[in-house]
Amino acid sequence: MAEKPLSDGLLRWYRSHARALPWRAPPGKKPPDPYRVWLSEIMLQQTTVAAAKPYFATFTERWPTVEALAATASEDIMAAWAGLGYYARARNLHACARAIVADHGGQFPSTETELRTLPGIGAYTGAAIAAIGFGEPATVVDANVERVIARLYAIETPLPGARPEIRKMAELLTPEDHAGDFAQAMMDLGATICSARAPDCTRCPLQNRCRAARTEDPGKFPFKAPK
Ligand code: ADE
Ligand code: SF4
Repeated sequence: MAEKPLSDGLLRWYRSHARALPWRAPPGKKPPDPYRVWLSEIMLQQTTVAAAKPYFATFTERWPTVEALAATASEDIMAAWAGLGYYARARNLHACARAIVADHGGQFPSTETELRTLPGIGAYTGAAIAAIGFGEPATVVDANVERVIARLYAIETPLPGARPEIRKMAELLTPEDHAGDFAQAMMDLGATICSARAPDCTRCPLQNRCRAARTEDPGKFPFKAPK
């Protein structure tokens, strides 16, 4: 069961504070094209939003559909990816596009389980595409979400050991409806207000639900195991 008031408050905040990003649909609207969600999530795996934006524009202009991308020579995709780094992502991107066309009739599958059978789609990306691109109630956990949840519950178990507990809380919080908006709201909150260095709790829509906010240093969460 989703813990309603918390996700409701966050979704309300998101409706007026969502970052307008080129791969997004406006909050509360029909999901965006799964192809664009997939492409953006692959780019954002190890790249900031600011760095990914121009590449996303180039790719979607040159290859507006997964069929177009699948039909392109590998060298052209690798060349367009140059500068983004982690080139295994570009190779998997092409392999995934070809698998979508060859094995899925050109349509992305909608469930986390099926998505994860595709090249380059792991736990995070599978959940993100299912939730954001298809409105499936999948739970999306990235570093931003981890940080926000560790703070909301003042989790003192250090990372990475706290991951199972964090995931469980994230699953409890994810609403059946609007899981994609919920995930992106958590990411936006983590990227803007609940930042790694200096959480700005007075501007936070979750302040009155947050245990870390009642401590003298909310920024100390999540704890990290010594290396
Ligand atoms: N980082 C990864 N995916 C994102 C998304 N959909 N919105 C904002 N930041 C992200
Ligand atoms: Fe983060 Fe502060 Fe909001 Fe808690 S109240 S979620 S620590 S910004």
